[in-house]
Amino acid sequence: MKKRWLAGILALMMGITSIGCGVGVISPGESEHQGTTNTGRIVVGFSQLGAESDWRSANSQSMRSAFTKEKGYEFIFEDGQQKQANQITAIRTFIQQEVDYIVLAPVTETGWDNVLQEAKDAGIPVIIVDRMVDVEDESLFTCWVGSNFELEGQKVAEWLNQYAKSQNIQPEDLHIVNIQGTIGASAQIGRTKGLADAAKKYGWDLMAEVSGDFTQAKGREAMEALLKQFDNINVVYCENDNSALGAIQAIEATGKKVGPNIAEGEIMIISFDGVNEEAIQLALEHKITCIAECNPLHGPRVEAIIELLEKGQKPDKFSYVDEMIYSANESVKTLTIDDKEYEVTIITEDILTERQY
Ligand code: AHR
Repeated sequence: MKKRWLAGILALMMGITSIGCGVGVISPGESEHQGTTNTGRIVVGFSQLGAESDWRSANSQSMRSAFTKEKGYEFIFEDGQQKQANQITAIRTFIQQEVDYIVLAPVTETGWDNVLQEAKDAGIPVIIVDRMVDVEDESLFTCWVGSNFELEGQKVAEWLNQYAKSQNIQPEDLHIVNIQGTIGASAQIGRTKGLADAAKKYGWDLMAEVSGDFTQAKGREAMEALLKQFDNINVVYCENDNSALGAIQAIEATGKKVGPNIAEGEIMIISFDGVNEEAIQLALEHKITCIAECNPLHGPRVEAIIELLEKGQKPDKFSYVDEMIYSANESVKTLTIDDKEYEVTIITEDILTERQY
């Protein structure tokens, strides 16, 4: 802030309307971002959406480890507690603080146009991470990095298709419920679409879609209600590991068994993330049959973007992270989606110990 005031005063004293000072040119009516503060550090304001899952904790940790004082950063972390209004307030505060970069992990996709316009007007680059924003004008953010959530959904749906075929289970005999994530979040929208499209394509009985808000408690609540409503559920598609843990608790509390043997009355659990250690352990025990990885380690990725921007270079507008699909069941070895082949990684004890999160 001080730099900009000083530059403006100097410009007035010198009777000039623009200043070339090596880090940018300020002209009347436009705001120029200068890159560092008077501490000499790069100030990054991060609006994290909340702390709903193990994935989110790993993601926050990854960001904190990337933006350290030792590396020359001032890192301001704001927890939005699952509320978009809190995230909007955080962004406005970052603008007032004149941070160098705003990083936003948005709770849902819509409703960001105004506040991102304010950041743009202030000349502060905004990097979107994890979930996407749905804005009229894509110049309101610099770039996005995260997962291809629809592809994650397509992968597990294709896994289910091939597994059912390998077991001679007819499509109409798959009675599926979807415990969705936070409604309106990219991870929910993409994963829900992946399943719904496959159900339509293959003729599965997709009986219900209910939000479990990506949490264990809500996942359990949702599953309890679904078990009262339907007595023939044989596949539960949980849009993250925490809701899967809640669903398993609800199922086991009724005396039913979870597992891949649908024909023998087990209820198959399918999930996303592969971050929660208990979920991976349950996958090893075949209680969760298939998990699409969602990689939370975005800290170094966002750091690399900021390094590029600091050098005056342009990052890709959208960067998708490569992700795996895991199962302890060996019936399906590879999947093909849109002509691309994906290997199914068989979960072993080694995978549990080698994981980076
Ligand atoms: O947006 C990523 C999703 O959000 C993860 O799958 C989930 O666990 C988290 O809460």
